[in-house]
Formats: sequence, structure tokens, C-alpha cells
Amino acid sequence: MIQPAFRFRRLRRTETLRQLVQETHLRPEDLILPLFVEEGISEPVPVVSMPGVVRYPESMLAAQVQAAWQAGVRAVLLFGVSAHKDDCGSDTWRENGLLARMISAAKAACPDMLVISDNCFCEYTDHGHCGVVVDDDVDNDRTLKNLQKQVVTAARAGADMIAPSGMMDGMIAAIREALDQAGFIHIPVMSYSTKFASAFYGPFRDAVDSNFKGTRASYQMNPANGREALAESMMDEAEGADLLMVKPGLAYLDILAAIRANSSLPLAVYQVSGEYAMIKAAAAAGVIDERAVVMESLLAFKRAGADLIITYYALDAIEWLKHS
Ligand code: PBG
Repeated sequence: MIQPAFRFRRLRRTETLRQLVQETHLRPEDLILPLFVEEGISEPVPVVSMPGVVRYPESMLAAQVQAAWQAGVRAVLLFGVSAHKDDCGSDTWRENGLLARMISAAKAACPDMLVISDNCFCEYTDHGHCGVVVDDDVDNDRTLKNLQKQVVTAARAGADMIAPSGMMDGMIAAIREALDQAGFIHIPVMSYSTKFASAFYGPFRDAVDSNFKGTRASYQMNPANGREALAESMMDEAEGADLLMVKPGLAYLDILAAIRANSSLPLAVYQVSGEYAMIKAAAAAGVIDERAVVMESLLAFKRAGADLIITYYALDAIEWLKHS
């Protein structure tokens, strides 16, 4: 008879034992719910590629935020679908533009909810790029100037946290300077610090009604690059980011782990639209257990080093946690 030197199975024998030695846990407070708000509609519009996700009319945002709070959600991430697009996304820094209105409506409806503003330009530009286009490419420094105006507008509207997703160089330093000068020294910045140029964003383009056909490869990261991914996040930390983020999630757990090992800041991960859509499609086809796969994926993010998870599954996951 072979006698193993050590028996790991000793601690796997019963559910109680397994729970006792579980290393990683998921809590409702770990989850951030993205919400889409579209200008000029009066009924919710389903996002076809993301079953269960809708674009809400502005008039419904307040009720949605309150319902999310009731369900246990403590943070929402707001995306606007603009009816006032131009070549630079100027609606984003208008005092009464969609971005400002969404934030103030959400805060008024539920002052305790942490309202995070996604700060980018792609949903507000007619070309769909994440900034000002000059000679067929996004001009980094002109975009930074506009971003400074945008984040001050978001802060004035009441945003609790600024989350820039445009992957411009120097964006954190620029944002911090603008917020501080406007008196918002206490507003934290959660940087989309390592964001890849990913095909997993496909369904998001549907969600924000984008007809964008180009590439963001000149500003978002090459999915092949791990060292650069770490450098990007470390640079944002040096520029003053309060939280870091990796996006997408499941294909980039190594990046999460690397950043976790090199930074003490809170770290978020974004389980993006394509990840959501794939699970939904596989579940609809009857080939996976949706709930089990979602919870396993969310736990994997935490194991890899994430503290916070932005996910379209936030409401479901909180419900499932209550009955687990
Ligand atoms: C744009 C933005 C994107 C997402 C969030 N903000 C798409 C992109 O960069 O093309 C993707 C979110 C998702 O896929 O769920 N700044």
C-alpha cells in the first residue's frame, strides 16, 4: 500500500471543514453595478447582446439606484448614452449635460449610494474614440485638458469617485490636479489603470449604442503585454491614483496577481460585457450552471488579488450570496 506523505483531503471531508479553511470570500460590498442611462428614451431598451441588461431612461435612474441599494448594492458605475455627440464629447463637461444630470439624479435618489462616474469620451463623441482625434489618432494632451473639465463637472454634480477609462498617458496626474484646484481634494480616483484593447468589449458597444468600427490599440494595451501592464498601473499609482483596476477580468488574472504583489492600493477588476455575454449564452444553451460559473469567476478575481469587482451580475450575485 502506498501511504501519501500528506493528506490534503483531511480538510475537504465535510462542508463545515471546507468552509472553515476557505481562504477567499465574496461579499456584497465587493461588487459594483454598472448602469446605462440613455438620453431621450422613455422606456427601458434591452441590450440585445447582454440579456438582462437594459439602458434606462433618465426618468428611471432614481428608482433603479434606490432598488439597487435595497437589494444590497453599495456602489454604482454610471455610463451615459448621449444624444448630443460631437467631435470632442463636450456634453461631458456641460454643467447640465447628461453626465452631470445622471450623477446628481443618482445622488439625490440615494445619498448613501457610492456613485462612481465613468470618465471617458467615447459615448459622447460622434466618431466613438475616447478623446479628441487629430490626424486619425486620439490626441493625448488635448484629451487631458477636456478630461480635466469633465471630472470637475462630475465632482460638482456630486460624484463620490472618479473613474477615468480612457487610457491617456498622464490622466491621473491631470485629474488630480484639476480636482484639487477645484477644491475636491477628498474625491478619490479609481483608475482604469491597466485596460487592454480587448475583443471582450464587443457587447458593450451595443450597450452604449456605438457604431465605432475602428481600433483603440493606440491607447489601450496590447493583450500580449504583462510587464507593460504592471508598469501602467504602477505609473498611475505614482501619479496619485487611489484605486487601481484591471480590465477585462477572467483572461487577465495574472495581471491582477502581479499588480497585487506590487501595490498596496485597493485593486478592482472589471468583468466586462463579453464575459457576461458568454456566460449568459452558455447558460441559455444549457451547457453550464450560470450561478455556479458566475460565483466561481467572482471568487477567482478575489483569489487573484482583486478587492472590488465591477460586474453586470452584481444584483444576481448579491441575491445568490444571501441564499448560499
Ligand atoms: C469606454 C469603455 C469601454 C468599456 C467601459 N468603458 C469600452 C471600450 O473601451 O471600448 C467596456 C465595458 C464592458 O465591455 O463591459 N471607455
